[in-house]
Amino acid sequence: MVFSGYRQKEYSCLLVYCCLAVILLAAGPGPPEAAAEQNVLQKNDCAKCHPYKVQILTEAGGKHATEIGCLDCHPQHPPKGENTISPCTLCHVGQPHFEITDCLHCHVDPHRPLASLRDPVKPARDECLSCHEEPGLQMSASPSRHADLFCTYCHESHRMIPACLDCHGPHLSGQSEADCLRCHQAHQPLHIVPVGYLPESFCRVCHKRQAQDLAETRTYHGTVNCSYCHKGLHPSVPSCLDCHDRPHAGEAYRKYSPCLDCHGDAHRLVVPREK
Ligand code: HEC
Ligand code: HEC
Ligand code: HEC
Ligand code: HEC
Ligand code: HEC
Ligand code: HEC
Ligand code: HEC
Ligand code: HEC
Ligand code: HEC
Ligand code: HEC
Ligand code: HEC
Ligand code: HEC
Repeated sequence: MVFSGYRQKEYSCLLVYCCLAVILLAAGPGPPEAAAEQNVLQKNDCAKCHPYKVQILTEAGGKHATEIGCLDCHPQHPPKGENTISPCTLCHVGQPHFEITDCLHCHVDPHRPLASLRDPVKPARDECLSCHEEPGLQMSASPSRHADLFCTYCHESHRMIPACLDCHGPHLSGQSEADCLRCHQAHQPLHIVPVGYLPESFCRVCHKRQAQDLAETRTYHGTVNCSYCHKGLHPSVPSCLDCHDRPHAGEAYRKYSPCLDCHGDAHRLVVPREK
């Protein structure tokens, strides 16, 4: 990236430039080939005029203080130099995180890039995905209206985890946050995979007829939890043959019509001998 917003300033402080000239010339005359080298600012010079920057870097610069120095990022100096500020991507390449823009939006001060890290104040998504690939993959695998939201709509600060109940009511009064997550996943809320045996009331809230039938039937099915038969992705419907391998033996079995022609309904079985 390029610091497009960055412009050469016009400097009025002639006095300081006189000082600069003095420092630059202080090296005095020398062999011609050495002159070019000596005619530049050395790293120890910076503190003379930018003491606060040196102090910040030393105290909180982290690896920007230990692994590089002022001149790595400021190869030239105004007023003559134009290459005064290197872009972050001069050194940071090869990771998705370094392909986003506006680094200084979050790393507010490059002289203490982690200590000055702040939460984005503008909506962010690609920025977050540059480190957290998984939520993006889940969102495209199972699109929902959550996928249309910015990450920062829910995660108001970095590492903060919101609660479903902050924004939605439960299906059933008394359902807890942990209950939501037994069926839903935050980044693909319509990819619903109930986990474990859920209370029958959790299904009944939307499937009253089946729950009522099961409550009333005197057959064995009435003793079985919904989730015992309905496993995996919601909605899934099992086949009778998943559990009843050839209930009616031999020749007779082959000529049977579909099971429910005789057995009525999975939740309100008709077992002919009972009649
Ligand atoms: C003799 C004083 C002096 C010394 C020594 C000095 N600077 Fe500066 N520097 C200035 C002045 C004056 C400005 C202009 C400040 C302004 O306009 O805000 C400036 C501006 C800068 C800028 C801003 C560049 C831009 O494009 O706006 C950077 C970066 C910088 N200095 C880095 C350094 C570094 C790194 C060193 C040490 C190698 C250094 N300076 C040494 C006086 C100095
Ligand atoms: C990792 C790269 C990096 C290092 C190391 C670094 N700087 Fe900077 N510096 C920057 C960037 C980027 C900016 C522009 C900041 C902006 O636009 O807000 C900047 C801006 C400046 C400015 C002018 C802007 C201002 O805030 O007034 C000065 C002066 C400066 N740096 C001095 C120094 C000095 C002195 C050192 C060493 C003690 C140093 N920098 C080390 C990246 C660096
Ligand atoms: C001249 C090379 C250079 C430039 C330019 C540069 N960095 Fe770095 N930066 C490094 C090195 C080297 C490290 C330490 C190794 C690493 O983490 O990759 C580092 C580390 C960091 C770290 C982790 C700091 C720590 O203490 O662990 C952050 C954050 C960072 N840089 C952000 C930035 C940002 C933002 C910019 C642009 C404003 C920038 N860097 C520009 C060389 C640079
Ligand atoms: C939306 C905010 C945001 C933006 C924009 C951003 N960063 Fe970061 N960056 C972070 C966060 C958050 C971390 C720290 C993650 C952690 O806690 O370890 C980080 C960590 C880093 C690190 C140290 C960890 C690592 O992965 O090596 C470097 C280097 C870095 N950023 C460089 C950059 C550069 C370069 C840019 C611009 C191309 C940039 N960042 C833009 C939020 C941002
Ligand atoms: C530079 C990489 C980086 C960027 C950019 C980044 N994160 Fe993170 N994030 C991390 C790291 C590293 C952790 C700590 C992971 C851990 O503890 O396992 C983390 C933790 C989190 C956590 C808590 C995870 C947990 O299990 O508790 C959430 C939530 C989170 N980030 C959301 C975001 C959001 C939203 C954004 C965009 C605003 C974002 N992150 C930007 C690196 C990053
Ligand atoms: C509709 C609100 C919402 C949106 C939008 C959202 N999240 Fe989350 N996120 C959550 C909730 C709730 C959790 C906690 C889920 C849990 O505990 O299982 C979470 C957990 C996380 C975690 C930690 C656990 C994990 O799944 O890795 C990370 C990292 C994360 N989100 C990143 C992101 C990123 C990146 C985006 C944007 C692409 C994003 N989130 C968008 C609500 C949201
Ligand atoms: C910060 C608020 C927020 C949080 C936290 C949040 N949601 Fe949402 N959710 C929304 C918004 C906004 C929509 C879009 C529909 C609307 O306007 O109601 C939505 C839609 C949904 C939808 C319907 C999706 C569709 O495409 O029809 C489901 C299901 C859902 N949320 C479940 C959850 C679950 C489960 C959690 C916790 C893991 C959660 N939400 C956390 C704000 C949130
Ligand atoms: C037993 C599994 C289950 C549990 C537990 C569950 N949900 Fe749902 N939820 C569903 C199913 C299934 C749908 C989808 C219905 C459809 O396809 O229309 C749904 C749809 C939604 C919707 C979108 C439709 C609407 O009603 O607005 C939201 C929002 C939602 N759930 C939030 C929650 C929250 C919050 C919790 C926790 C209090 C929760 N859910 C617990 C299964 C569950
Ligand atoms: C929030 C309401 C809601 C909850 C809670 C809910 N469902 Fe559903 N269910 C629906 C809706 C709406 C449909 C039909 C739309 C569809 O196909 O997604 C459906 C469809 C089904 C179907 C398939 C119906 C068909 O004709 O193919 C089965 C089986 C089912 N649900 C079982 C369950 C079980 C078991 C539970 C409890 C673990 C449960 N549902 C919880 C709303 C819900
Ligand atoms: C003993 C296994 C079993 C149990 C227990 C069970 N179901 Fe079913 N359910 C089935 C089978 C098998 C079907 C498919 C019937 C068919 O082929 O038409 C089905 C179908 C459904 C359907 C689709 C509409 C319909 O009535 O055919 C819904 C909705 C449903 N079940 C919800 C539930 C709910 C809610 C519970 C718990 C209250 C539950 N089921 C308990 C086996 C079961
Ligand atoms: C997830 C497993 C499962 C599924 C699917 C299932 N059943 Fe059953 N069913 C059972 C179990 C367990 C029993 C108890 C008797 C046994 O072990 O065979 C049973 C018992 C029965 C009985 C005897 C009931 C009694 O009280 O004597 C009939 C009839 C029956 N099932 C028919 C069906 C039909 C028809 C279907 C398809 C609509 C079906 N079942 C689907 C598990 C299942
Ligand atoms: C033509 C009617 C008819 C059809 C079709 C039929 N059944 Fe039956 N089924 C019966 C009768 C009658 C009984 C009770 C007499 C008995 O125990 O053989 C019975 C009993 C059962 C039993 C209980 C057996 C026991 O030992 O308690 C199961 C389980 C069963 N059927 C499953 C199925 C399944 C699964 C299908 C579909 C593959 C099916 N039935 C198709 C008539 C039928």
